[in-house]
Amino acid sequence: MVKERGNFNSRFTAIMAMAGSAIGLGNIWRFPYMVGQNGGAAFILVYLFSAVFLCIPIFLAESIIGKRTHLSTFGAMEKLAPGTRWKWLGFLTVFTPLIILSYYSVVGGWSIEYFLKSLSLSFSDPAVSMEEHSAVFGSFITSPWKPIVFHTIFLLVNAVVIIFGVRGGIERFTKLTTPVLFILIVLIMLYSVNLPGAKAGIDYLIHPDFSKITGSALLSAMGQAFFSLSLGVGCILTYASYLKSDENLMATGIFTALFDLGFAIIAGFAIMPAVFAAGIEPGAGPGLIFETLPFIFSTMGADAPWLCDIVAILFFLTILFAALTSSISMLEVGVAYLVDQRKMSRTRATALLFAGCWVLGVLCSLSFGPLKDVHVFGMTIFDACDHLTSDFLMTFGSLLFVFFVGWKMKKAEVRDEFTNGGSLRFNKRVFDVVYFFIRYVAPAAIIVIFISNLLM
Ligand code: PFF
Repeated sequence: MVKERGNFNSRFTAIMAMAGSAIGLGNIWRFPYMVGQNGGAAFILVYLFSAVFLCIPIFLAESIIGKRTHLSTFGAMEKLAPGTRWKWLGFLTVFTPLIILSYYSVVGGWSIEYFLKSLSLSFSDPAVSMEEHSAVFGSFITSPWKPIVFHTIFLLVNAVVIIFGVRGGIERFTKLTTPVLFILIVLIMLYSVNLPGAKAGIDYLIHPDFSKITGSALLSAMGQAFFSLSLGVGCILTYASYLKSDENLMATGIFTALFDLGFAIIAGFAIMPAVFAAGIEPGAGPGLIFETLPFIFSTMGADAPWLCDIVAILFFLTILFAALTSSISMLEVGVAYLVDQRKMSRTRATALLFAGCWVLGVLCSLSFGPLKDVHVFGMTIFDACDHLTSDFLMTFGSLLFVFFVGWKMKKAEVRDEFTNGGSLRFNKRVFDVVYFFIRYVAPAAIIVIFISNLLM
């Protein structure tokens, strides 16, 4: 069974794939502006806390289900709880990553456009004002066709990687791009922290302002931690189903979380010092990387245009790679389901899901322009997809997985999977603590988050 579905060749490649899924637009696009809006270092501390105490247990719950069964969400639940309705709940989670992929690939498309722009060396012109950069971005995203072309290209790249399979596609792609991502972001950070005036940005990131930690900041930090680790959508479950049976889940979980967190923090240090150096408001919001940063590149361009062009190219390349390593994991969840359960070929499954995500993505893209007045739950289509998935479906999926492992699976079965039949001594020692978090702490915390999201 494992052989037919494919598997990851080594722990290194498995972690690169999982970390690639985790490290994405969430780390570069969302994290820095959320830090900016919610009190700098204080937000990072809450984020860190939720990652360790909440996200790692959820991550482990998902990977226990995946590795135990070597199946995707629906099949895994059917196998572990035969004859029950759990499998249909698993089936629901197949849709979440596809909805995310639809709007995520719109932003992925924007990053292709900006990467191409950076290659044309157009960011180093110091005469372009912040308003002009915003106007260029605004007219691009509201265009009825241009972002759709890039959305299509972005999705096509995903489809090609996925068609090549777990080893030939996902593994080959992520074992190269994930390490490159780290090199790129460290280079940008080194540049950014050495800019004149960068110190204020560094201080902002290391001095916590606890007065900004309101209830909604707490929720944002937890929600961001979920989103960033790709939890509750079956991505981790599906990737874990490609792990070899003797893999150490604790090790893959901790390394993935560490890489993800490390990357988000480095990205913060790559962006905030530059934002402060250019004298810009840190809470610039979602437009931060496509409006504010191009302006920062152009102000830096006055002294050294060539250097600024290189940084801009590296920066948009980083965003593009980060988006791709995440989006392929979203597509893989649905493809794995169709291949495992519906016995479809990878190519057909990929083509089918490509079509579905393309259509929804087009609607999301048009919701900035011609469809901006079409509202779902009072939001544009793009925002509705984002909120529905990150505030509800991801939390719902996470709750489902921790409940399943904590309350439906037998404790002995969970222990067996977590300790590889008792052979991993360290895992044996920490099992009871991990199990307690999976069974009690994580579900309670997720329910609080879920209800708070409903009430807000
Ligand atoms: N973790 C990704 C990021 O931080 O950008 C986002 C993500 C990937 C969300 C995969 C959901 C998912 F299924």
